[in-house]
Amino acid sequence: MSGSLLEPRPSFSNQIRSLTILFSNCFRDARRFWRSSFTGYVKSRENLRARIAISLHFLEYGNALKDSVPGHGMDRAMMLARDIEIYIERFGSDATTEIALRTLESYLAFNEGSGLDLSVIEEVVARHGKSAFTGLKGGVETVTAEEIRKKGMIDFLAFAEARHSIRTYEKGEVPLASIENAVRAAQQSPSSCNRQTCRAYVFTDSEAVQKVLSLQNGNRGFGDQLGGVAIITSNLSHWENAHERYQAWVDGGMFAMSFVYGLHAEGLGSVMLNWSVTHDQDEKLRKLACLPESDLVITMVGFGLLPKELKVPVSQRKPLDYALFVNSPVAASEN
Ligand SMILES: Cc1cc2nc3c(=O)[nH]c(=O)nc-3n(C[C@H](O)[C@H](O)[C@H](O)COP(=O)(O)O)c2cc1C
Repeated sequence: MSGSLLEPRPSFSNQIRSLTILFSNCFRDARRFWRSSFTGYVKSRENLRARIAISLHFLEYGNALKDSVPGHGMDRAMMLARDIEIYIERFGSDATTEIALRTLESYLAFNEGSGLDLSVIEEVVARHGKSAFTGLKGGVETVTAEEIRKKGMIDFLAFAEARHSIRTYEKGEVPLASIENAVRAAQQSPSSCNRQTCRAYVFTDSEAVQKVLSLQNGNRGFGDQLGGVAIITSNLSHWENAHERYQAWVDGGMFAMSFVYGLHAEGLGSVMLNWSVTHDQDEKLRKLACLPESDLVITMVGFGLLPKELKVPVSQRKPLDYALFVNSPVAASEN
């Protein structure tokens, strides 16, 4: 019967109670976003870092386009030059300014001989270009299809199919180098304007691991076997406006997935551990792990050594036609 309920409607007071909890959590989400992001104005070092990242991404992206023309992104380039000045004056030179300066150098090279007035940018590069030089790069580079394919064309489907959420582990220490490689892989995930907001707070000390896991509700029966746990976060300071209010979840989810694949490539087992909690529970984890207010917890990932043999759920995937629609109908344009 169309429009009928699948189960009896809860009492009015129960519905009000659920709604109140929902709204109070949404309000607290919004408050954290408001305080941390640069909605309205730049108020922290991380906010400024984010604006620098956005500007330099804009220039790199523009100059990498096939039909890029001189002068493209001039406003952004000027803004970037100004932001570099402010940043260095307030916080000194670091990786943020180093990458930004390399990008401006590349921008100047691209526009050389164009007759444009680039003096403001040239001055900033001349003043700071050599500071804090550690070899980080910025700008554009040329790659070939052959280079990309040589390393990229692996049997990824087989790799993905061999990953399972592991809930039986061998006791033993997880090599730090493997964790580092997995985080490096996670850092290669795409991120909005290359802002790279995500972090992995990794614990391998068994006491700390158990303390963290005691706050999570999905590790019963195997949590005590885990060699480590990572808290994956996205730093809300990098988001600018209301339209980006959910971007942390997208970027954080991709970072977490790449981390899991990174662990998989290291021959380790892993399992995502949900952090679908209310603010009250979230506060407990923040206190325990000393997380800054601006770090939004996306998920946890448990990991450890694989035993020689173990059971995993089949976790059968739905038929492809549930997930894939090729050339499905497109509505006629309105004008
Ligand atoms: C965001 C997220 C949270 C998850 N949380 C848990 C969890 O708390 N405990 C758990 O045992 N598995 C958890 N899982 C794992 C899923 O149960 C698992 O991915 C799914 O059943 C498919 O199985 P597979 O990963 O072995 O392919 C989580 C997965 C995701 C994506």
